[in-house]
Amino acid sequence: MTFSATPDGQTAMPVSPETNRGPQGMSETTFTPGPETARQFRDALGCYGTGVTVVTTQTDQGPLGMTANSFSSLSLDPPLVLWAPAKASSRFAPFSTAPHFAIHIMGEDQHDLARHFAQTGGGFDAFDWSVSESSVPILAGCLARFECHLAALHDAGDHAIVVGHVDRAACRAGKGLIFKQGQYGGFAEKL
Ligand SMILES: Cc1cc2nc3c(=O)[nH]c(=O)nc-3n(C[C@H](O)[C@H](O)[C@H](O)COP(=O)(O)O)c2cc1C
Repeated sequence: MTFSATPDGQTAMPVSPETNRGPQGMSETTFTPGPETARQFRDALGCYGTGVTVVTTQTDQGPLGMTANSFSSLSLDPPLVLWAPAKASSRFAPFSTAPHFAIHIMGEDQHDLARHFAQTGGGFDAFDWSVSESSVPILAGCLARFECHLAALHDAGDHAIVVGHVDRAACRAGKGLIFKQGQYGGFAEKL
């Protein structure tokens, strides 16, 4: 077993995953996030269910899209939202520098859009789309949409945090597409 060093130089937490009985007798795996435990870290993060968005922007090569679940609301006043493109993505440069972009929240029937823009950034003509006043590609039929200009860009490990000031928003009734543990799904009311 490998151990990681604490900041004071003492050996501490096990790096390799260890499976034990958790507080309520359920089996749980503990580990220190690092190169050896990337899979376990991803699996743990994937337990957090999110909505699904497609972020779009205009580039010299045409409209560009990317499926993203790192979206979060941030501030009501001023109206700010954020999302996080990965530096490893071939789409990182255009998305991290885009002065204007739109974030579309996927409705429960929009798996096709989400799957498409996870695979490729182009191919808009397979969908119904138009161009906003600030020349950003707008996808039709989404649950909500936030048209933004870049407010701030923060470095964040292997991602960047893009903060958008929302210039215009739109919303329709309906249920949203959910992503959890690597799967798309829907929302079922329990109460
Ligand atoms: C549900 C879902 C959510 C995703 N969220 C993000 C995200 O927040 N940030 C990101 O950089 N990539 C995210 N991705 C990956 C991108 O959509 C895309 O697959 C990736 O950028 C591919 O890299 P490429 O541009 O080099 O082909 C997500 C993919 C899926 C399926």
